[in-house]
Amino acid sequence: MTDDDEQRQRRDRAIRDAMQWTPEAQARAADTLKKLRAGELRMFYCTERGKCGGKPHGGYPYPHARADQYPPPGVDWRIWAEVGGRGSGKTKTGSEYTLKVSDKAPRIGLVGRTQADVIDVMVDGESGILACARQKGIEVDYQRSRARLVFPSGAVATLFSAEKPQKLRGPQHNYMWFDEPAHYDDIDEMWLQGMLGLRLPGKLRPHALVTTTPLPTKWMKALLADPRTRAVRVSTFANAANLSEDYLEDIRKKHEGTRMGRQELYGEVLTDVEGALWNDQLFTHVAKQRPRYDRSVVAIDPAGTANRRSDETGIISVGRLDDEFDVIRDRSGKLSPTQWADRAIAEYERISADAIVVESNFGGDMVKTTIENEAKRWGTAVRVVVRRAMKSKQLRAEPVVGLYEQSRVNHVQEHGLAELEEEQLEWVPGKGDSPNRIDALVWGITELDGTIGFGRASSPASFRGGGPGGPGGLPIPGMMSIGNGLPLFARGRR
Ligand SMILES: Nc1ncnc2c1ncn2[C@@H]1O[C@H](COP(=O)(O)OP(=O)(O)OP(=O)(O)O)[C@@H](O)[C@H]1O
Ligand SMILES: [Mg+2]
Ligand SMILES: [Zn+2]
Repeated sequence: MTDDDEQRQRRDRAIRDAMQWTPEAQARAADTLKKLRAGELRMFYCTERGKCGGKPHGGYPYPHARADQYPPPGVDWRIWAEVGGRGSGKTKTGSEYTLKVSDKAPRIGLVGRTQADVIDVMVDGESGILACARQKGIEVDYQRSRARLVFPSGAVATLFSAEKPQKLRGPQHNYMWFDEPAHYDDIDEMWLQGMLGLRLPGKLRPHALVTTTPLPTKWMKALLADPRTRAVRVSTFANAANLSEDYLEDIRKKHEGTRMGRQELYGEVLTDVEGALWNDQLFTHVAKQRPRYDRSVVAIDPAGTANRRSDETGIISVGRLDDEFDVIRDRSGKLSPTQWADRAIAEYERISADAIVVESNFGGDMVKTTIENEAKRWGTAVRVVVRRAMKSKQLRAEPVVGLYEQSRVNHVQEHGLAELEEEQLEWVPGKGDSPNRIDALVWGITELDGTIGFGRASSPASFRGGGPGGPGGLPIPGMMSIGNGLPLFARGRR
C-alpha cells in the first residue's frame, strides 16, 4: 500500500465517521465524551478565542490557550511568528496549532534545529505533539523509522532537521512549523527550501508557523519586516502560571535586568546600541575549540583595582592559529583574589597557554604576585606577562574591533560567551568604564597579535619564538612591556 493509499484510507475513514455515523465512530465519540466528562481530556483552544487569557473557566477548568497562542486573524498572512522568551509556551503553541490544522492540511512539514530537537522536543517533548494529542484523546501515529506522524484525518507530517537542509529540497507542503529557526546553523538555506515547497493548493492556503526565541540576525529582521508576516511577542512571564518556581527563579536570576534578558525573557529583537564598538553582525561563531593553536594566552582584568567600579574580574582565554583568533573561554566572575588566580591558572593549564596577561597600571604587580604565589601553592609554574596601558581603553579596543571586522576573530560556542557578547554589544566608549570582560579580551587579543598598532598584517612567525623583547617579539606602540615579558618560570615545552 502506498503512502497515498494509506492516506486516502484514513481520510475516508474520517469522512465515514463524520458522515455515516458508523458503530465504530459512535464508539469513539462515546469514549471521547466519557473522557471529557471525567475531566480526562484537555482541549487547548476554547470558545473565547483567548479573551479569557487562558485562565480556567466554565467548560475549560484548567490553563489553556492564551490570545497569543491563537493564529492571527485574517487570511492575508503567510507566516505567523510567535517570538517569545524562554519557556513562554512557543513549542506548546506549535504543537497545538499543528494538531488543529492537521484536519485541513494533508501535507505538513515539521522542522527543528537538530534531529534530536525534532524528536525529543517537537514530537515527544512535554509540550510536543504526542503529549498534546494525548491530552485531547487524539491518536497520532508516530512512525519513527519513516520520520513522520500520521494524524487521524490521514494528514502526514514529515520531520526535518535543520542539520540536513537538502532533505527539504523537493517536498511540498500545505503547512509548516519551524521551532527555534533563529538558532539553525543555516536558516537561510532551510528557509528558502521550506518556502519554495510551501505551495500545495488545497482547503488551506499555504502558511507557516515560526516559534522561536529571537536573535537579531539578518534572517530574523527580514522575516519580521515582511508584510506577509504576523508576529506576536510573548514574555516568559506570560506563561508563569505553567512554569515551575525553580525554573522561573533560575532564568530570572540569570537574565533579569540585563540586555540579554530583554531577548531571553521578553522576546525582544535587540537592535544595535548606538555608539557601541561591536554589533551582532561582527560575531563569527565556531562550534568548538581547535585541537591546537600557535599561541594562546589567558588575560585577566581583576576587579577591585583602583579604577574599577564593577566588582567582576574579567578572565578570557584566546588562541591564535595562523591569522585567526579564537576567543576560547570566559571564566569571569565575582571572585576573591585567590579565586581569580586559581581560575586563571586552571585555564592556563587547560589550554596550555603561553602566558597569563595582566595590566600593570592599577595594581598589576599585586596581580602578578597573587598569581605566582597561587601557582606555587599548586606546585606549578606559570608565566605572567605584565603590560602597561598607554592608550585609552577605546583606542586599545578599536584595533581589536578591526580584527572582528576582517572576520578574523571567532567565538567558540561550546563554552558559552553570551555575557562577553552582551558587554561587547552594550559598551559605548566614553559612557562609563569599559567592562572587565572586554578589557581582558582586548589584552588577550592584543597580546597575540604582535602587530596591532603597526597597521600591517603579521606573519605568525614574527611573534613565535620569543626573541628579544619577550614572547610578543615586537614592541607594541602605546604599550610598554614590563620586565620584557620574559618567562618568570621556565616551562619545558617552550
Ligand atoms: N496556554 C498554556 N496552558 C497550559 N500550559 C501551557 C500553555 N502554554 C505553555 N504551557 C506549558 O508551559 C511549559 C513551557 O512551554 P513550552 O515548552 O511550549 O515553552 P517554550 O517557549 O517552547 O520553551 P523553551 O524556550 O524552553 O523552548 C510547558 O510545560 C507547556 O506545556
Ligand atoms: Mg520550545
Ligand atoms: Zn478560555
